Amino acid sequence: MKFASIVAIAAPASAYLITGSTVNWRTGPGTSYAIKKTYTEGQDVTITCQMPGSNGYVTAECPLCSAPKSNQATVDLIAEFEGFVPNIYLDPVGKPTVGYGHLCSDSNCSEVSAKYPIPLSQANGKKLLAEDMARFEKCITNLSGSKVTLNLNQYGALVSWSYNVGCSLNGAEGSTLMSRLNNSESAATVLPQELPKWKYAGGVVLPGLVRRREAEIALARTATTAKAIPRSC
Ligand SMILES: *[C@@H]1O[C@H](CO)[C@@H](O)[C@H](O)[C@H]1NC(C)=O
Ligand SMILES: *[C@@H]1O[C@H](CO)[C@@H](O)[C@H](O)[C@H]1NC(C)=O
Ligand SMILES: *[C@@H]1O[C@H](CO)[C@@H](O)[C@H](O)[C@H]1NC(C)=O
Repeated sequence: MKFASIVAIAAPASAYLITGSTVNWRTGPGTSYAIKKTYTEGQDVTITCQMPGSNGYVTAECPLCSAPKSNQATVDLIAEFEGFVPNIYLDPVGKPTVGYGHLCSDSNCSEVSAKYPIPLSQANGKKLLAEDMARFEKCITNLSGSKVTLNLNQYGALVSWSYNVGCSLNGAEGSTLMSRLNNSESAATVLPQELPKWKYAGGVVLPGLVRRREAEIALARTATTAKAIPRSC
């Protein structure tokens, strides 16, 4: 038998006796993943949880390792620069927007009004902001290769930046900033050099963008022991 994908992490929860002749611990759920260790019959292993897609469960499925949540300083920074507008308005490039800079998918913001009444209350506006930020938390987490290290304030600065410039090839994904981080340059060096470049809208320097980038750099420079990337799970 060479099928089991066993992932043993953190504190062991239950002991499991190997009954097959060979059980492989692999780096992922499937035989195409590398073998980390091979167990033989009679060995006792402890399994905390099993990855989704495991072939046969002996214990609980592991919770998915989601993108780190931004800290309050990051939420406050984005809320301050987006500003709160309870009714639908057109942003500087004519796109329908509501709340804390939520870009709507149609002119009535129907995806918002299906959930929260418009005009938005400030409390619902903040819920919407948190939901929107989750997309950019995922974006930054996704674009960070294995060599990237970010504390929670540096991560928050990048979440604010990608919330503003987008995650596409024109934004975070295609950026020199993310590729320098991927190439092992430190966030402390890269962020103050690269963030200020993102100050244009339609070829013109916008003072609001200059100030936002300065606030993001200030956040990134604020010392913290809270880690974000790499994730702890
Ligand atoms: C927006 O709402 C108006 C009034 O209810 C409706 O006539 C229009 O078709 C809606 N537009 C979109 C894009 O859903
Ligand atoms: C993150 O990466 C996964 C796998 O490559 C992809 O399916 C997903 O769409 C990405 N998400 C974002 C927000 O970029
Ligand atoms: C950084 O590396 C990750 C993982 O290899 C990759 O998914 C991502 O696209 C890279 N990002 C950039 C901007 O090069």
